Amino acid sequence: MPEVLRIRVGVLASGRGSNLRAILGAVEAGRMRAEVVVVVSDRAGAGALGIARDHGVEALFVDPGQHPGREAYDKVLAAALEERGVGLVCLAGFMRILSPGFVRHFEGRLLNIHPALLPAFPGLHAQRQALVHGVRISGATVHFVDEGVDTGPIVLQAAVPVHPDDTEASLSDRILAEEHRIYPEAIRLFAEGRLRLEGRRVRIVGEP
Ligand code: GRF
Repeated sequence: MPEVLRIRVGVLASGRGSNLRAILGAVEAGRMRAEVVVVVSDRAGAGALGIARDHGVEALFVDPGQHPGREAYDKVLAAALEERGVGLVCLAGFMRILSPGFVRHFEGRLLNIHPALLPAFPGLHAQRQALVHGVRISGATVHFVDEGVDTGPIVLQAAVPVHPDDTEASLSDRILAEEHRIYPEAIRLFAEGRLRLEGRRVRIVGEP
């Protein structure tokens, strides 16, 4: 039997890496035609780098101090991803805004996860924004990245109730559980070639 072609994924992460762990779990369970070939971080101590190593995935720290300036840094990032033949780049808690050049280079193959139901509460501290605003439902969004902040075409969303006694931490935990479900699912759909970008809208091919 011919081996199934697997898309090569690069994950960019600055922090603890729980979404990375969920993605690796789905890959290892054989749930998708994808493999994570590199995890890149702008922070040497990022938990995500440790998780990558534990799973036998290349962990690459690209030091912003060595490459000052957003464009210069992003060029190094793009080159590292291209050298590894990456077909999909997934942002998973990557805390840098990417330059327009980087976004254009990976257009249509650059995904992000955001802890709110976009277009509500883009940017930092989305869970806190939701609590302060008093919404009763929030959630998680996987979207393609465009040149704005959390403005790109939406792939998948999951809603989560906001409880009256929620703290930022309790709401974040509830949202995170959904992030861990929909991010691997979005990557699976991408890897199967089932996401069609039609302007702002993403059509999922083969969906009832
Ligand atoms: C997640 O809440 C994600 O939505 C946001 O950053 C956080 C990353 O968490 N973009 P983790 O590092 O994946 O645990």
